[in-house]
Amino acid sequence: MKKFSVVIAGGGSTFTPGIILMLLENLKRFPLRAIKFYDNDAQRQETIAKACEIVLTEKAPDIEFCYTTDPKTAFTDVDFVMAHIRVGKYPMREKDEKIPLRHGVLGQETCGPGGIAYGMRSIGGVLELVEYMEKYSPDAWMLNYSNPAAIVAEATRRLKPNSKILNICDMPIGIESRMAQIAGLKSRKEMKVRYYGLNHFGWWTQVEDSQGNDLLPVIRKHVAEHGYIPKVEGEPVEASWNDTFGKAKDVWALDPETMPNTYLKYYLFPDYVVEHSNPDHTRANEVMEHREKNVFSACRAITQAGKSSAGHLEIDEHASYIVDLATAIAFNTQERMLLIVPNNGAIINFDPEAMVEIPCIVGSNGPEPLVMGKIPLFQKGMMGQQVAVEKLVVEAWIEKSYLKLWQAITMSKTVPSASVAKAILDDLIEANKEYWPELK
Ligand code: NAD
Ligand code: G6P
Ligand code: MN
Repeated sequence: MKKFSVVIAGGGSTFTPGIILMLLENLKRFPLRAIKFYDNDAQRQETIAKACEIVLTEKAPDIEFCYTTDPKTAFTDVDFVMAHIRVGKYPMREKDEKIPLRHGVLGQETCGPGGIAYGMRSIGGVLELVEYMEKYSPDAWMLNYSNPAAIVAEATRRLKPNSKILNICDMPIGIESRMAQIAGLKSRKEMKVRYYGLNHFGWWTQVEDSQGNDLLPVIRKHVAEHGYIPKVEGEPVEASWNDTFGKAKDVWALDPETMPNTYLKYYLFPDYVVEHSNPDHTRANEVMEHREKNVFSACRAITQAGKSSAGHLEIDEHASYIVDLATAIAFNTQERMLLIVPNNGAIINFDPEAMVEIPCIVGSNGPEPLVMGKIPLFQKGMMGQQVAVEKLVVEAWIEKSYLKLWQAITMSKTVPSASVAKAILDDLIEANKEYWPELK
């Protein structure tokens, strides 16, 4: 069986150790000969890499490993680029969340003005990775889950239309796992779904088990009462995420026929979100205090002791969708997966040039999107507005246009007026000087 070489871009990510453990668990179906880490923050990456090196030496000494900040070393001789960078890291996420809140608007990593600000930082970073890949390993595929995936995907559609890049999100996977649990199935893999929307902005229209039985009635009944919180909670979930899964109950009520993505709460209940936010302590603070602290201290402990048992690193089981995607490409598995792809008629009555999230059959030549048909006016209206926001952000980045970015923030359903949008934009420009193109 062929063995593959991968580079993880964003080697210093809090998710990297969990993904390494997940890759090790999946070696039978996705054999590896080399793993490389690439990051532009040498120090942050080294803390993670030294611990991962110990884990790899213990568990799979045959896999070559290196970590580097040199693009040529990182991107030469690779089959897959797994990309999860965060341009500006958590201190900038904190600003994305806190600046809009100062103006009474919700602050979120990927939605509203915060997501737009993050998008303006991410576009350049992700395009640079695509360029390195094409220069040093032109046959490789990039599996991108760097956020905000909707804006990044639109940027690659516009600027790298022929590149081998697949954009994917884990939120539908998380929700489908909860649906499977609610329906009494062992795994979401026993379900077949129809879904349409944009990234962090979509709806399920069909959920069936492997015999073709409709699971929606039982899921609907549960969500109407409890949102996506199963009766018996699986792994522990932080309070803020639990609130989001619970709030799906109210989001669902707007269209009881379909099942919503949890992120729709930010567009449909922005006032609720603002009321339930602490402007001095947002999700970025929670993540820095918990996930980042725990992962980095576990890595330091492992490195100091020279053995993996010295620190607790958690396997990221549900990140196995990345292996599903890689094996679909590598071994032509024809797996059905939700991906962010050009619409091109799949949603018949929607912009063919929008990047949409829909089921695709994935094989060696990439994704074949499935036709999702016509969508109702409610969803079409909301998606049209949101897609315009995402396209305006990308145009603002390309043209360095203040006006287009102001239009984008104004058009976001999370923002009440053009004057509030302008005030937020001016603060975001100040905060993002180091990262955004200078706007004219
Ligand atoms: P993190 O800050 O811990 O890690 C990101 C790493 O990227 C950092 O080490 C940073 O130095 C590096 N980086 C930043 N800019 C870079 C550049 N231009 N080139 C190379 N490296 C660069 O963040 P995290 O919380 O672990 O998240 C990582 C990314 O994964 C984020 O974009 C996050 O939004 C995304 N994510 C996406 C999904 C999804 O569903 N699509 C799920 C989880 C996380
Ligand atoms: C989900 C989304 C990701 C997002 C993440 C944020 O997994 O699909 O796109 O980055 O949540 O989680 P965090 O724990 O960093 O707030
Ligand atoms: Mn996501």
